[in-house]
Amino acid sequence: MPSFENLSFHIEGPTSMFVSIVLSSCLLGLFFGVLFYTYLTRSHCPRKQIEGENRCVYTANGRKKYMTLKKNCDDDEIRLTVIVPAYNESDRIVDMLKETVDHLEKHYRSLGDRGERQWEVLVIDDESTDSTVDSVLRFSSSLDLGDHVRVCSLKKNRGKGGAVTWGMLHARGQYAIFADADGASRFSDIERLFEHMPKNATGGVVIGSRAHMVNTEAVVKRSFIRNFLMHSFHKLLQILGVREIGDTQCGFKLFSRFAYRNIYSKMHVEGWIFDIEVLTLARFLQLPIYEIPITWHEVGGSKMTLLKDSIRMAIDLLVIRLNYSFGIWERPKPKYA
Ligand SMILES: *[C@@H]1O[C@H](CO)[C@@H](O)[C@H](O)[C@H]1NC(C)=O
Ligand SMILES: *[C@@H]1O[C@H](CO)[C@@H](O)[C@H](O)[C@H]1NC(C)=O
Ligand SMILES: *[C@@H]1O[C@H](CO)[C@@H](O)[C@H](O)[C@H]1NC(C)=O
Ligand SMILES: [Mg+2]
Repeated sequence: MPSFENLSFHIEGPTSMFVSIVLSSCLLGLFFGVLFYTYLTRSHCPRKQIEGENRCVYTANGRKKYMTLKKNCDDDEIRLTVIVPAYNESDRIVDMLKETVDHLEKHYRSLGDRGERQWEVLVIDDESTDSTVDSVLRFSSSLDLGDHVRVCSLKKNRGKGGAVTWGMLHARGQYAIFADADGASRFSDIERLFEHMPKNATGGVVIGSRAHMVNTEAVVKRSFIRNFLMHSFHKLLQILGVREIGDTQCGFKLFSRFAYRNIYSKMHVEGWIFDIEVLTLARFLQLPIYEIPITWHEVGGSKMTLLKDSIRMAIDLLVIRLNYSFGIWERPKPKYA
C-alpha cells in the first residue's frame, strides 16, 4: 500500500497539475454545455396570448365597462400612449397616475374649452394578486377619465418585459412611452425626451437615463450588494449588451409609432432584461437612439429579488446575445416608413 507521503508527492507533480487543468476545463465546458443545451431546448418564444387577455376594463359614469382591444390599431387622435406595467402596485400606482394624468391633461389635449383628450394610459396588470386594478379604476372614475385609462389583466404572469410588450402591441398613439408604476421617474421629463425625438415619419427611440446619477447620494446610499450587482451587471453589459448606452435599464423609454410597432412585434424576452432586446432590435432596424438624463429618485419596495433576478438577467442576456449571433432569432432588416 502506498504511504500517505507518496500520495502527496504525486499530487504536486507536473502531471497532476496538467490533470487538474484539463479536469477543470472539462467541468467548465460541461457546465456551459448544459446551460446551452437547457436554453436551446427550453423555449424562449414570445408567449402566446391567452383567450380574453385583449379585453380591457375602464370606467364610465362610475360603472365598469369592458372592451376588446385591437392589435396595431391606428388612431391619430391619440398622440401619446402611456404604458404602465403593474404587478402588485396598489400602494404606489395611484400617486404615479396622479402625476402622469396631471401632466397629460395639461399638455395632451387639443385646444379649446373642452379639448379632446389626445392621450391614453394602458395599465397592464401582470396577474397582480392585490387590489391594483380596483385602485386604478377608482382613481380613473374619480376624475371621470373614461376609456382614456384602460386596464388590461394578463391571465398569467409574464414579467415586466412581457407586460410592456403586450401594451405596445395594443397601443394607438403616434408615440408610446412606458413608465414604471413606482413613480421613480418624474413624468414631466417626457418633454425632455420629446425634444430629441426625430420629427420625421420613422422617428426613433428616446430613452431616459440615470447614468449621470451613478455617483450621487441616491445611488451611493443603496446597499453594498445592490451596488456591487449594479457594477457587475454593467461590466457584463459592456461585454454582451448594447455598449454605447450608459443606462439601458431605466424604466422610462419613448418610442415613435414606427419604432414601437417594428420593435415589439419581434420581441422574445419577457423578464427584467427585455430592455436589452428592445435596444438591440432598434439597432438592427437602424433607428436612432438618444439617451437623455432624467430626474430619478429611488423608491423602496422593489419587486426584484436581487440574487435570483440577477442570475436570471445574466442568463437572459446570454440568450439574447447567442440567439442573435447564431441567427436563431431573425435579425429584422431596417425598413423605412
Ligand atoms: C434561442 O431561442 C430559443 C427559443 O426561440 C431558446 O429555446 C434558446 O434557448 C435560445 N438559444 C440560445 C443559444 O440561447
Ligand atoms: C403579491 O401579493 C400577494 C398577495 O397580496 C402576495 O401573496 C405575493 O407574494 C405578492 N408578490 C410579490 C412579489 O410581492
Ligand atoms: C429621421 O430622422 C433621423 C434622425 O435625424 C434619421 O436618423 C432617420 O434616418 C430619418 N428617417 C428618415 C426616413 O428620413
Ligand atoms: Mg423601478
